Amino acid sequence: MNVSLQDFVADLRQIPPERFAEVQYIKSFLVTHPIDPSTLQSHLFWDRQHYTRNLIDKTSVYELLAICWDIGQSSSIHNHQGQNCWMAVPVGRLIVENYRVLASDSNASLCNLVKTDMTVMDTANPVAVNPEFPVHRVFNSAVFENRAVSVHVYSLPFDRCTVYSDDLAKFEEIHLSYTTEYGERK
Ligand SMILES: [Fe+2]
Repeated sequence: MNVSLQDFVADLRQIPPERFAEVQYIKSFLVTHPIDPSTLQSHLFWDRQHYTRNLIDKTSVYELLAICWDIGQSSSIHNHQGQNCWMAVPVGRLIVENYRVLASDSNASLCNLVKTDMTVMDTANPVAVNPEFPVHRVFNSAVFENRAVSVHVYSLPFDRCTVYSDDLAKFEEIHLSYTTEYGERK
């Protein structure tokens, strides 16, 4: 049964910090706490040019974001700075494409990436990023013909990440910002 965002956050805040090191534990939490989309409304902002990142809650242990994907929008290929990440999809469907870094030269910002596998996420199927192979991209395929909203739990919070070029040969570190915080445009 769906839970309200308010109850989701209240229950998430009850989880002892050490549990966020357990990939499966938080994934199970997402399975048992599917968010009622109507309760997300104040965090949903759309932009035709780019997906939006909307901060819902942040503690010293985790941050919780709603990401709004218009039809066809995609993230860059990226990692999560060594932090764990879980994604639930209360609205629509999204594809996660995983990559493996075969070689990397940080002095030259050059790398060699290969695509490994992909999964479809939807309401019934949240995804935990594999900490061993954390490079991925998320996209809302145009064939789904629908907007999508994903809810992300990151532990610990992070504000920078590495993004990889589409030709899988270069990378750089970027600063991450929010489109909205607690329902307010920045
Ligand atoms: Fe990600």
